[in-house]
Amino acid sequence: MEELSHKIHSAAEYVESRLEGRKPYAGIVLGSGLGKLADMISNRIVIPYKDIPGFPISTAIGHKGNFICGELGGKCVIAMQGRFHNYEGYQTSLAAMPIRVMKLLGIEFLFVSNAAGAINQSYKVGDLVIIKDHINLLQNPLIGQNLDEFGPRFPDMTCAYDIELQDLACRIGREMGLNFNKGVYLGNPGPSYETPAEVRFYKIIGADIVGMSTIPEVIVARHCGIRVFGMSVITNVSNTDNTAKILNDGDDVIKQADMAATRMTELFSRIISAI
Ligand code: HPA
Repeated sequence: MEELSHKIHSAAEYVESRLEGRKPYAGIVLGSGLGKLADMISNRIVIPYKDIPGFPISTAIGHKGNFICGELGGKCVIAMQGRFHNYEGYQTSLAAMPIRVMKLLGIEFLFVSNAAGAINQSYKVGDLVIIKDHINLLQNPLIGQNLDEFGPRFPDMTCAYDIELQDLACRIGREMGLNFNKGVYLGNPGPSYETPAEVRFYKIIGADIVGMSTIPEVIVARHCGIRVFGMSVITNVSNTDNTAKILNDGDDVIKQADMAATRMTELFSRIISAI
């Protein structure tokens, strides 16, 4: 654990040394196929993960590996173009390490995004869904000795996803002519997609959407007091029976996410401008 703390501090020191005195106000994690939000960040400094001491390397498809710091919605932001997943073999504490790095750089808000399957069969491909809560079936990233400098041993998760930010997103969405569903995100370790029996089970226990990421980052962010807004792009509707004609496919997920990325970018930029 001391080793993790050391890694976080040396990574933060390195990134800070590259930021030319900038202090990011919000962090953004870009999910599979959603990386093009980073193109809208102006006046940017790009920091490849591979240059950062102790940083993991992103191997997932649709994920580049950079921090991008610059302006979005008139504020200084730092975006992660590419994240780390449990299924790549990383412990979730390491997968969520960049969140603590961004905390040390000064962020107060975290915007997390992901591509997700719809357990809730009323959702459609291309929908943007506000994450209102989660069910974690991944390893908890806080397992192990607590890092007291970041937060308490037993952090509350009652309001993991900030209600005010959800309300603001709905209001801005209406101005943009968009209506969002609010759903419960379930984290499946992956990398295999869910079986129809699992999908039916997840539905019974209250999940609306399913993905393989995000929750470790949110837990670590809440542990250290960062306010979180989460959004899923529905890239496929999950199959509930074994005779389904459309099978889950990683390339399709990236294609669908890319098509929704423009709307999500506009929304994030407007929310950031309003906070
Ligand atoms: N399941 C898990 N992760 C996903 C899915 C899915 O159906 N779609 C995109 N990411």
